[in-house]
Amino acid sequence: MSVSFAKYYDCVIPWEKRLKRELPLLEGISRAAGRKVLIPACGTGRHVVALAERGYDVLGFDIDEDALVLARAQLAATEGAIAAVSGKAALRSLDMAAAGTLDQAFDVAFILGNALPGISAPGALHAALGGVAGALRPGGVLLTQNLNYDLRWREKTQFFPVLAGQTEDEDVLLVKFADYGANVINFHGMYLARPRTGGAWQSYTRSSRQVPLFRDRLAEILRAAGFADFEFWGDYGRAPFDPHQSNDLIVLAKKKQSPGLQPGSLCSEQGRTSPSTMRCHGKDSDPDSA
Ligand SMILES: C[S@@+](CC[C@H](N)C(=O)[O-])C[C@H]1O[C@@H](n2cnc3c(N)ncnc32)[C@H](O)[C@@H]1O
Repeated sequence: MSVSFAKYYDCVIPWEKRLKRELPLLEGISRAAGRKVLIPACGTGRHVVALAERGYDVLGFDIDEDALVLARAQLAATEGAIAAVSGKAALRSLDMAAAGTLDQAFDVAFILGNALPGISAPGALHAALGGVAGALRPGGVLLTQNLNYDLRWREKTQFFPVLAGQTEDEDVLLVKFADYGANVINFHGMYLARPRTGGAWQSYTRSSRQVPLFRDRLAEILRAAGFADFEFWGDYGRAPFDPHQSNDLIVLAKKKQSPGLQPGSLCSEQGRTSPSTMRCHGKDSDPDSA
């Protein structure tokens, strides 16, 4: 039997609480950086919808088709609310490594929900963040929120709190656990589901490999991808990152200005010329505005 892990994931995440915690920071950054927001690894599209409903022009993309099906349904259900505030939302099936091929330049990118440690193949994270850099205008900003692996790796946390939720016809539990190799984490998510009318629990397990994304390693990869001016926070309230205590590692970084870019010239990077000179030189492109 095939199961939509995306549907189960979406129903166990306490979205209302999560968005209430995250949106003030995301909105504050978008307001300063510009209106065009990119959400790589958007999953089921909740951040895409939430920011579009606040008037931003948002493109979300992911490689998981099941997640995109849910994201498209979210978008269809909120089309009216988004249009009412002149927001825009679109979704694409795309790998982060290919984000530089998008035919527009974004002011800000948000990679959220611990998406980066799962990009574990050799060189893949460099390629992914290089792709996201290619989609941003010079001076554009990236914010990425991942868990604090400096702490997690030291404590070798094996078991995590159980999450519970409901789809339209099932009760769902998510049990997460991890085992630690020499330099990777094998992460397992076991979903237990049963009909809401009662009956036997079925289990569906998905395992994935994570790279422990320590602060210094993430900074090094971001630097290689063309980012600078890092700020590190431990939560969405901008508490300073403490490797010994913080739950999250949130990084804000700025895409370096291209050395050859002169005022009055067109934005041109990775062989692409931006159709909008406003994006390159208008108020929104002020590199110090973020
Ligand atoms: C843990 S989920 C987080 C989803 C969402 N950002 C959130 O906050 O709920 C990680 C997501 O990253 C996506 N992903 C992983 N590798 C990717 C890649 N190379 N390009 C685009 N999306 C990717 C997965 O498909 C998945 O939807």
